[in-house]
Amino acid sequence: MSLLQNKKIILGISGGIAAYKCAELTRRLTEQGAQVRVVMTSAAKAFITPLTMQAVSGNPVSDDLLDPAAEAAMGHIELAKWADLILITPASADLMARLAQGMANDLLTTLCLASAAPTVISPAMNQQMWAAPATQRNLEQLKKDGRFIIGPGVGEQACGDVGAGRMLEPAQIIEYLPAFFLPQVLQGTKVVITAGPTQEAIDPVRYISNHSSGKMGYALAQAASWLGAQVTLVSGPTNLVPPQNCECIAIKSTEQMLSACQQVSQQANIFIACAAVADYKAASIESHKIKKTQHQLNLQLTKNPDILATIAQQVDKPFSVGFAAETQDVARYAKDKMQRKNLDMIIANDVSNQQIGFNSEQNAVTVYWPDGELDFAAEDKSTLAIKLLQLIAKQYTQQTQ
Ligand code: PMT
Repeated sequence: MSLLQNKKIILGISGGIAAYKCAELTRRLTEQGAQVRVVMTSAAKAFITPLTMQAVSGNPVSDDLLDPAAEAAMGHIELAKWADLILITPASADLMARLAQGMANDLLTTLCLASAAPTVISPAMNQQMWAAPATQRNLEQLKKDGRFIIGPGVGEQACGDVGAGRMLEPAQIIEYLPAFFLPQVLQGTKVVITAGPTQEAIDPVRYISNHSSGKMGYALAQAASWLGAQVTLVSGPTNLVPPQNCECIAIKSTEQMLSACQQVSQQANIFIACAAVADYKAASIESHKIKKTQHQLNLQLTKNPDILATIAQQVDKPFSVGFAAETQDVARYAKDKMQRKNLDMIIANDVSNQQIGFNSEQNAVTVYWPDGELDFAAEDKSTLAIKLLQLIAKQYTQQTQ
C-alpha cells in the first residue's frame, strides 16, 4: 500500500509555464490513493485550466477567497483544516515573496497561514529570478518559518536559459512526500548503507560478480531518508537511480567499497551492510584480455577484506547491521555471523527462494539481535525497508539511551 493512501493533499499552483506538469503530478498522486484538492492563483489559470485540474483531481478547484458559492461548499478555514499536507508547485518568485511576508491576499496564501499542515514548496522560475537576492532572501525566510523547500531542478528552461529554476518532475516531487507522513525516528542520525554487487576484474573486459540488483539496499536508503536520517549510500554497479535525498558513492570493487565505507562510517551512527560483496577477487588482474587458447582456465582467487567486520570492529563503531544471505540452515549461519562480525543486528535472508532476495521485487527476512528476533513476511522491498529501519531505529535508540 502506498504511504500516500488516503492522505489529503492541497496542491497549490501558482503562475508559471511549468504549471502544465501539475496535471501529471495530480494523476500520480491520485493513483497512489491520495485525495487531492487543487487551489490555483489567478496567474496559474493562464497556464493550465481549472477544468483540467478538476478532471484529473476529481474535485472542484478552488481559486477565489471571496466567492460565496465556493465558501458555502468548503470554506477556506475548513479546507485549511482538511489538509494533511500543502504542496505548492510551481511556486513562483511572486508567491514565495508573498508567503515569506505572511500575506493573505488570495486563497492560496491564506490557506498557508490558516493551516497547521506541513507546507512543501517546490519553486520554479527563470534562473536569474531564482538567483536574485530578493528571492534568495525569501527562500531563507520560508525555511526559517518551517516551510519545506524541494528543488528547484537545474537544466534547460522554457525561456531558453540554462540553470537552477526548473520545476522538479512529478515523480521526483512524489518521492519526497512519504517523509511527511512517517514519524522521524532517525532524525539527527547519519546512516551509511552498502548496496548492490561488487565487481572484481579478471582482465580489462571481464569481472566476477553476483546477481544483486541493489533494490533492497536502495529501498533501505530511501526509507532511512524518509525517517529523517542523513543517508550515504555506497553502491556497487546497478541500474537504479539513487534516492534523491541521499549522498551516493559509486564504487566497483570490494577494496573501493571498503575504503569508501571506512571514510564515511567515521561520522555514522548506523552502518547497514546490504551489499552482496564478492568474497574473492582475482589474485592478479591480467593487463590484456585473456585469450581463449586453453581448453581449461584456472583462475587464482584470493579472499577479499570483510567490509562489515572491519567497520564493526572499530573502537567507536556505529550501530552495525549485517545481512546474511543463506541457502540452508539460515538462522544458525545468521546468528553465527552476528557474533563473529561483532554486529548489533543481523537480517537473515533465505536466498534459496527465488521469489525473494536477489533481484526480486519482494523480500522476506528474519531479524536477529542479541536478545530478540522478528519475522517479516514477504512484501515489496520498499515497504519492508521502512519496517526494518523502524526496528533498527528502536534498537539503536535503546542502545544509546
Ligand atoms: O540487491 P538485491 O537484488 O535487492 O538483493 C538483496 C540481497 C539478497 C543482496 C540482500 O538482501 C542481502 O542479503 N545482502 C547480503 C548479501 C551477502 O553478501 O550476504 P553474506 O551472507 O555473504 O554476507 C554477510 C554480511 O557481510 C553482509 O552484510 C555483507 O554485506 C557483508 N560482507 C560480506 C563479505 C565481505 N567481504 N564484506 C562484507 O561486508
